[in-house]
Amino acid sequence: MMPFALITGGGKGIGKCIATELAKRKYPVLLVARDEKSLQEHATTLSNTYGVAAHYLALDLGKLGATQILMDWIISNNYNVGILVNNAGYGLSGPFSKYSANDHIEMMRVNMEVPVALTSALLPMLTKNAPAYILNVASSAAYQAVPGLSAYAASKSFVLSFSRGLRHELKNTGVSVTAVSPGSTDTNFANRADVGVKALKTAEKVNMTPEAVAAIAVTALFNKKPEVITGFINKLGAFLVWLLPKKLAESTAASLYGL
Ligand SMILES: NC(=O)c1ccc[n+]([C@@H]2O[C@H](COP(=O)([O-])OP(=O)(O)OC[C@H]3O[C@@H](n4cnc5c(N)ncnc54)[C@H](OP(=O)(O)O)[C@@H]3O)[C@@H](O)[C@H]2O)c1
Repeated sequence: MMPFALITGGGKGIGKCIATELAKRKYPVLLVARDEKSLQEHATTLSNTYGVAAHYLALDLGKLGATQILMDWIISNNYNVGILVNNAGYGLSGPFSKYSANDHIEMMRVNMEVPVALTSALLPMLTKNAPAYILNVASSAAYQAVPGLSAYAASKSFVLSFSRGLRHELKNTGVSVTAVSPGSTDTNFANRADVGVKALKTAEKVNMTPEAVAAIAVTALFNKKPEVITGFINKLGAFLVWLLPKKLAESTAASLYGL
């Protein structure tokens, strides 16, 4: 049997579509997120449609100790993991002071701490299963400071930098690391982040579908690319951010979030 692909946040949005792409390629999947109903529905669809094993665990990855619970589930069920997709994540938009320190820390736990902890815990198994793959979902926000999404953007810069550094470290192990940076994508992300009308309207003009983002991400994963920005507009955006004065990129972003 092929090794499992573990996808955090695999029941909705981009993660759901990444799980579909991997199931299409006959990988059995493990889906982990909070909402049991969407996990159960997607696991059933994947096993019925593609004939792969699909298991799920309903778990809040923002809570302390969640990674250990997830690892205990994997070990006690003897799931052999060959692909790790760190996709679960969310943003908190608006002024930094709108949220408590705990709100920010919980978000940073899901976006940064859990991917690092899972990578650390699963690396021996991934190395044993080489060729193996890690796909980390960063963001176009990783390429600049984003006033109005300050902690979120910083968390995604972390994901990108961590991915690139780790990739180099693992180059002789048969474990490949890829970071994918989506721009605006038509999922529940903007609603959960509470981005406001102006940012929503701007996003709608350039939104990609989660299916398109997932197809690009999974192709990049199997082609062992270090990093991919999804879509021409987002690639252009990252190039302009690199080219233009930081202050200009930051004030443009700030105006989107009403700051
Ligand atoms: N959509 C965009 O515009 C965009 C742009 C750039 C990057 N991204 C990144 O893409 C990734 C996927 O986001 P998306 O666009 O697909 O948004 P989404 O539809 O809101 O999906 C987020 C996923 O993460 C899971 N998740 C969130 N908090 C969690 C928690 N505490 N514990 C466990 N699972 C949790 C959600 O599942 P449950 O709700 O069931 O827990 C869901 O599956 C995120 O890392 C996001 O930062 C998105």
